[in-house]
Amino acid sequence: MTRRLQVYETELLRVTFDPQVCSHSGMCLRTLPAVFDINRKKWVDPTAAAPAEVMAAVAKCPSGALQARLITSVHPAGGAEPEMPTTPEEPVVVITVRDHGSLLIEGRYRVVTPDGTVLREGEKCGLCRCGASKTKPFCDGSHREIGF
Ligand code: SF4
Ligand code: FES
Repeated sequence: MTRRLQVYETELLRVTFDPQVCSHSGMCLRTLPAVFDINRKKWVDPTAAAPAEVMAAVAKCPSGALQARLITSVHPAGGAEPEMPTTPEEPVVVITVRDHGSLLIEGRYRVVTPDGTVLREGEKCGLCRCGASKTKPFCDGSHREIGF
């Protein structure tokens, strides 16, 4: 079953959460519990901290499930795309083999099926390498349960 992208907005900030790729690390809950609280029905409340704090917490999300962007109409620079390296020496995508965990993809990427269907594109995600994820090819944190 496909779980839908969740969007949480203030006047200044747009936070999205993609449950398909969350690896359930709990980093968001530990970093900014006022904003990220799974005991609330609306578990992300971006009004509960300064936008910079929310963005800093989102940047720590190891799976890329959380994304945050300043709303462009308020902050003209906020929606600017990050610059990607253009020289051939610099990798566009960095893949980190995590200890006992996923393959962390950082950099502009696109995950496609053999028939070319785009499953996800973005700048950060974790791919399962333990084989146990229920949201393959993405990591859902199952590697912890199976002691990978
Ligand atoms: S992967 Fe991201 S969204 Fe999921 S629990 Fe960890 S920090 Fe939160
Ligand atoms: S590597 Fe995380 S679920 Fe497989």
